[in-house]
Amino acid sequence: MNVYDSARIAELLGGQGYQTVDDPVEADLVILNTCHIRDKAAEKVYSELGRLERIRRDRGRSGAKQFLIAVAGCVAQAEGVELVERAPFVDVVVGPQSYHRLPQMLADSFQSHAARVDTEFPAESKFDHLPDIHAPPGAAGAFLTVQEGCDRFCSFCVVPYTRGAEYSRPVAAVLAEARGYAKDGACEITLLGQNVNAYHGDGDDGTPWGLARLIEAVAAIDGIARVRYTTSHPADMDDALIRAHGEVAAMMPYLHLPVQAGSDAILAAMNRRHTADVYRRIVERLRCARADLALSSDFIVGFPGETDADFRATLRLVEEVGFAQAYSFKYSPRPGTPAAALPQVPEEVKRERLAQLQDLLDRQQRAFNVAFLGRTVPVLFDRPGNRPGQLLGRTPYMQVVHASADATLMGAIKAVEIDGVGPKSLAGRLSRQAAA
Ligand code: 5AD
Ligand code: SF4
Repeated sequence: MNVYDSARIAELLGGQGYQTVDDPVEADLVILNTCHIRDKAAEKVYSELGRLERIRRDRGRSGAKQFLIAVAGCVAQAEGVELVERAPFVDVVVGPQSYHRLPQMLADSFQSHAARVDTEFPAESKFDHLPDIHAPPGAAGAFLTVQEGCDRFCSFCVVPYTRGAEYSRPVAAVLAEARGYAKDGACEITLLGQNVNAYHGDGDDGTPWGLARLIEAVAAIDGIARVRYTTSHPADMDDALIRAHGEVAAMMPYLHLPVQAGSDAILAAMNRRHTADVYRRIVERLRCARADLALSSDFIVGFPGETDADFRATLRLVEEVGFAQAYSFKYSPRPGTPAAALPQVPEEVKRERLAQLQDLLDRQQRAFNVAFLGRTVPVLFDRPGNRPGQLLGRTPYMQVVHASADATLMGAIKAVEIDGVGPKSLAGRLSRQAAA
């Protein structure tokens, strides 16, 4: 979602005469769009700010033009004025719901030295105050935020505090944006939301639409060949959405469905509001709807109170379900969240459990990828490769594929025969067979 927000900020400031540059040394303004989900991400902001302050100091010595530093995103939201106290050289602090106000804040900041801080949850939706966005030229796919915020309050998570209450964009706005991307040449759309399957945007008839209906409408747009959505909460997987996996041809057979843990006691303490068996049943129903569906997930190890037996329940769930890919983290206590106040699991226990879980997940991912050797799969080419004459693309399962392909195939879906499996990607050659 930060990638999407950054693109919208760039588009907004483009209208003010700004252009993006590749190196902060050449910039008049640097915006750090930040993440607060775990301590490591939040701390990175301060090391990055230190680097920017040095650039500014050098700039001052050379008498070159002004260099503004802005912090956007969830660290800005969570820390607000504290951020300016810790890094007094920051000019602008703007939360994720108010970045449409950046042009005014920047103009004010160029005038005076006092830092501007805006971490309000404004009554107006930023989406109503942002210019239309375009897919970058040649982009094969586009992200599209349809939902923001979260009302679920998992006990470890800062999102309900930093992104605020659940908000769904109206159907008409989402479809207009999707049509725009299709016109720009994008053939894959990823619908985004912190809790995207809780989507309930107003339709033109005034009734709320669920995510399944929205997906059907996006998939029906001319030129859209692939639709994905992320991130979902298991308890919001309704029947219509599960059915859509089998019925909407453009829906990719791959779903990121975080489970976090396999022990019911830990799931309850996390306030996830479902058991491990409920998750298993949802997976079964999804696979009934779409037999070739593969799953990805998020896991947290070392949540307060997690015993060895609880952790083994997570390993068991992973073994039973089988994941094509996953993200796993040591629990990181976040300020203001209920779980941060509980007695903590020692660091070395977390480290050991994470290593063990990642070892299992890595083996599953490798087995999943190796099974593609010799298969021909549709690949959407979306980036130039490192070597000339090479393109990178994605399979329906999000695996990265390297292939020798002409640059004119950027943005096209072509059949590729997989002939190599690396640790992070597949290799293949264009098949003579037509793209599936
Ligand atoms: N500690 C560790 N991981 C976390 N996540 C969210 N909050 C925390 C935390 N406090 C993970 C969850 C979530 C993903 C986006 O980040 O697994 O699904
Ligand atoms: Fe955070 Fe997701 Fe839970 Fe919402 S559902 S509180 S975003 S982990």
